[in-house]
Amino acid sequence: MSLLEVKDLSISFEITDGTVNAVNGLSFDIDAGQTLAIVGESGSGKSQTVFAAMGLLADNGTAKGSIKFGDLELIGMSEQRLNKVRAEQIAMIFQDPMTSLNPYMRISDQMVEVLMQHKKMNKSDALKESIKMLEAVHLPDAKSVIRRYPHECSGGMRQRIMIAMALLCRPKLLIADEPTTALDVTVQAQIMTLLSDVQKEFGTAIILITHDLGVVAGSCRETLVMYGGRVMEFGKTKDIFASPGHPYTKGLLSAIPRLDTENAELASIPGNPPNAMTLPKGCPFAGRCAHTMDKCWDVMPALEPFAEGTRLRACHLPLEEMN
Ligand SMILES: Nc1ncnc2c1ncn2[C@@H]1O[C@H](COP(=O)(O)OP(=O)(O)OP(=O)(O)O)[C@@H](O)[C@H]1O
Ligand SMILES: [Mg+2]
Repeated sequence: MSLLEVKDLSISFEITDGTVNAVNGLSFDIDAGQTLAIVGESGSGKSQTVFAAMGLLADNGTAKGSIKFGDLELIGMSEQRLNKVRAEQIAMIFQDPMTSLNPYMRISDQMVEVLMQHKKMNKSDALKESIKMLEAVHLPDAKSVIRRYPHECSGGMRQRIMIAMALLCRPKLLIADEPTTALDVTVQAQIMTLLSDVQKEFGTAIILITHDLGVVAGSCRETLVMYGGRVMEFGKTKDIFASPGHPYTKGLLSAIPRLDTENAELASIPGNPPNAMTLPKGCPFAGRCAHTMDKCWDVMPALEPFAEGTRLRACHLPLEEMN
């Protein structure tokens, strides 16, 4: 059984000028212990998808469809029950650790509090467990660093501390939304390695959200490519890298910044992401695609299996004409 199963999820926001259709009939699932990357440009609906699962949508937002965590339906769940699921089973880490860390409390106090509250541990056991968790995320000198305040740590250290905090209650699912964007490339790579170590050591399923396909290569087994609030392509990460099945994925792949070339130009897909208030009837990528045909404007291509059912793509262009 899937750990998290999203079915026909739509998310819209009411604003003064009309309705923003941020997510449009999205379906995917992730099994226990698996690693899934959700990749797409800014505004493609990545964050709102997981916010809906965590009950964190803004007040003007509505989610329709279903998000099941095991047997529990998360859409429409009461705040109180959702709080419990969030604290004990699904953890989320953000780009900026300071949104999760309290600047006025020592790291030790913050971590101990979580364990005393949710795992009913006594103070000295909670402290031991917290240090153990900081060591598990390879924080050097954990015993003394735990006594510090967040501002006395570097950005990379804070990121590790946040991951350790998120893992304290041994969640079944860890959602990381752009966890490394604010860090320099070396630290980024270390954090990615750390996430895959965490998955191996604790069996935690991980959803990694990023706009950069470059960071998912070594860390996530499966990748979901999103655009205009829809799935464009889904499959094993290595298959997607070897032969992208959608022109949008191809564009993302060629936009990965290359470190090995000097004066590398910052490549990006020509054109702008679609306006979520005026999405075309057909494929959201039609306005930027090099292969657009008439029907692309009118008919949204269905998400269909290919490669013996191991992959999915939503594109009218025959696969043979992809390259
Ligand atoms: N409260 C809101 N009111 C209106 N529109 C919103 C609101 N929150 C998000 N949106 C819109 O929903 C769409 C999807 O946003 P989302 O945050 O999921 O993008 P994203 O893929 O995470 O992008 P990024 O890479 O920039 O984080 C965007 O068009 C965004 O402007
Ligand atoms: Mg986002």
